[in-house]
Amino acid sequence: MMKIAISGKGGVGKTLLSAFLARAFAVDGYDVIAIDADPDANLGASLGFPDAGKIVPISHLKELIRERTGARPSAGGAYFKLNPRVDDLPDEYSTRHDGIRLLVMGEVKRGGGGCYCPENVLLGSLMSHLLLGRDEIVILDMAAGIEHLSRGTAKAVDRLIIVVEPGQASLETAHRVKQLAGDIGIKELAVVGNKVRSADEEAYIRKGTKGLDMLGVIPYDAGLVDAQMRGLPIIQSPAIKSSVDAIYAKLTAPRNT
Ligand SMILES: Nc1ncnc2c1ncn2[C@@H]1O[C@H](COP(=O)(O)OP(=O)(O)O)[C@@H](O)[C@H]1O
Ligand SMILES: [Mg+2]
Repeated sequence: MMKIAISGKGGVGKTLLSAFLARAFAVDGYDVIAIDADPDANLGASLGFPDAGKIVPISHLKELIRERTGARPSAGGAYFKLNPRVDDLPDEYSTRHDGIRLLVMGEVKRGGGGCYCPENVLLGSLMSHLLLGRDEIVILDMAAGIEHLSRGTAKAVDRLIIVVEPGQASLETAHRVKQLAGDIGIKELAVVGNKVRSADEEAYIRKGTKGLDMLGVIPYDAGLVDAQMRGLPIIQSPAIKSSVDAIYAKLTAPRNT
């Protein structure tokens, strides 16, 4: 069961790719859990989940965090469990829609030199369980950082897909993500180009990501803006769907070794 993580600069299309890939796996009959690990969470809305905006992220569930870790959130220095029970959380706190399970993680707290606070311990244990302890496809929609992953969970990630758009900044972020991924031991990196409007733009992305496995490019679709203005889920673009289907095929094809 593939575990796929998606990262890249803000606005490049991580959530768009996550949504379309999750849908592609679900259509193929797989059990899929889509995990929104971007603090600015909108994967649910992109997938057309009703009331997506009302889902409370795990990191905000203070009572749950207290109950499972035995500590009050933000009680720095206090004693709390480092291996809280989490195996019931994916079913208990996820929502299902159209064959896709959605779990919203919320933000990892950052503190000087790493923060071992109860929130992070619970999120870390949960991520570890999602990646290592469950038998389903995982699509992990992350922010530009990859702080939801660690040395312990990195080995469970089959692919870290970095999304880039035609532009210097997203290429710079891609190289930073590549470095962070290397630091925690993720080896299987790949790139997807998005918002591509011409062959020149595609060539620019290919040149800027040389050395990384290119899974494919997604065209710019002006129709998405219209869909968003009307509050429709982004999943309705046929042009994007067909390019993500090609990426899906490449991702799931047996790899020649
Ligand atoms: N191929 C595309 N064509 C047109 N608009 C796109 C495309 N990909 C993403 N967008 C739009 O760009 C914005 C950012 O996309 P999103 O997937 O939310 O990025 P991220 O998750 O990386 O921040 C959204 O408004 C989205 O609809
Ligand atoms: Mg996003």
